Amino acid sequence: MSDPKRPARARLTRRSLMQGAGAAAAAGALLRPFEALAEDADGRVRRTGPGPSRFSLVLNGKERTLTAEPRQTLLEVLRDASVGLTGTKPACDRAQCGACTVWLDGEPVPACSVLAVEAEGREVTTVEGLGSPDAMHPVQAAFVVEDAVQCGFCTPGMVMSVAWAVKTHGQDLEAAEVREACAGNLCRCGTYPHVVQAALRAAKEV
Ligand code: FES
Ligand code: FES
Repeated sequence: MSDPKRPARARLTRRSLMQGAGAAAAAGALLRPFEALAEDADGRVRRTGPGPSRFSLVLNGKERTLTAEPRQTLLEVLRDASVGLTGTKPACDRAQCGACTVWLDGEPVPACSVLAVEAEGREVTTVEGLGSPDAMHPVQAAFVVEDAVQCGFCTPGMVMSVAWAVKTHGQDLEAAEVREACAGNLCRCGTYPHVVQAALRAAKEV
């Protein structure tokens, strides 16, 4: 049975955004550029954009309604002053480095390559949602103990990937699985061996 507290799940994809823009280009007037089509759980299609649109999601366990233009990425909106979740880092902005990794419905994704309005009706978890300095997630605590942080710029994204590996594999987590989970996370400081040690330490504690 669906949870009435959760916002209606919508299916808005990059394809639907492009279809919206493409329809505009083809038909000239049906949809303006940068409009997108979102389909809710009941199959109703609504148009969003080109100006700011409201969308609802569960962000770090709390139901929120945010505002974004269809062109804005989830990364931009999370870091916006109105939301203030700056733990998620911007770097390549091309899904190449993993610095912006968050969980979307429990799976790691690069927030720079997800449209904010795609999060409609979904669960987003950022590094702030895992734990806090006073109550760290086992992975965050293990990064400290294993000295898996140097400049720290890659660390939030790395933590999200490692935490996903720990959540997925539990105490059976192996080094190869950690490396695979972090394959999309680049660290120019070369903390990789410490990251693997931190992951294996955290896995023993969950
Ligand atoms: S900033 Fe998103 S993957 Fe690099
Ligand atoms: S700790 Fe500096 S980039 Fe990873």
